[in-house]
Amino acid sequence: MSLIAIKHEDSRRIALLTGLFLIVSLAAGAMTGCWWIPALSVPGFLGLALLVAHYHRAAEEERIFQDQDLQFIQSAIAPVHPLPYFTRWSSSPALAARLIGLIRTHRPQRIVELGSGVSTLVMAYAAREAGAGEVLSLDHDPEYAAITRRNLDAHGLAAHARVVDAPLVGVETSRGRRIWYAASALDDLSGIDLLIVDGPPRKSGPDARWPAFDLLRERLAPGAFVVLDDTARSDEKASLESWSSVALPDGIQQIPGRKGVTILRMPG
Ligand SMILES: C[S@@+](CC[C@H](N)C(=O)[O-])C[C@H]1O[C@@H](n2cnc3c(N)ncnc32)[C@H](O)[C@@H]1O
Repeated sequence: MSLIAIKHEDSRRIALLTGLFLIVSLAAGAMTGCWWIPALSVPGFLGLALLVAHYHRAAEEERIFQDQDLQFIQSAIAPVHPLPYFTRWSSSPALAARLIGLIRTHRPQRIVELGSGVSTLVMAYAAREAGAGEVLSLDHDPEYAAITRRNLDAHGLAAHARVVDAPLVGVETSRGRRIWYAASALDDLSGIDLLIVDGPPRKSGPDARWPAFDLLRERLAPGAFVVLDDTARSDEKASLESWSSVALPDGIQQIPGRKGVTILRMPG
């Protein structure tokens, strides 16, 4: 997405409105003798109008992308029941669509996800259709883990995805002690072909998702894909930097969108 998303018709509208505002504020300045009124308010108005137009365009563009991704998801997996809603907590349609694409194209045998939800269902559908392996999803919250399990059952996908209760505990990392998933949930995990980092939630501590880099990197298979959600958030910066430093230089793909989804390919 460009830094400033403003269309030609917006610029004309903004110029017109700013012109009108200029006339009104010049009149106000002349009547009161306060020339700081137009001097300060006109640039302020212009800045605000540009900002509003930018966010309006960016949201419009994102809606178009989202519609395309939802259509793709619907036709690619044809769910037997409505999927759980995509919310601000869940993965975005952009992420879900990319996960389907990765599973269809590369048929990963070991798929591990941190943070269960609609993405678990979508991947289980894609894995079943593509003949890929089972999805293993770690969830720190027993309530959400149970909801995802119920949804998997309802969609007839229990054989294609498993949700593991993984309480958040203090773990030792190369950067000191952090709050992350209990090591017992990672038992016997190796040769991961596709890793999705969409948990734990940020309220669990600073750089909440960074430990995945330290604790799961060695468990990836050669040529594995790592998908990071929420990379537009400042607290995911450390995580993104660490993963980018070991990914193939031409294997880093940013998916446009407000939340930020980054797909990284590890060396083979
Ligand atoms: C970012 S969410 C994971 C979303 C998941 N990948 C999906 O596509 O729906 C991370 C964690 O937040 C928790 N969670 C999910 N939805 C929630 C909600 N509406 N309110 C509070 N916590 C939620 C779950 O425990 C989940 O593991």
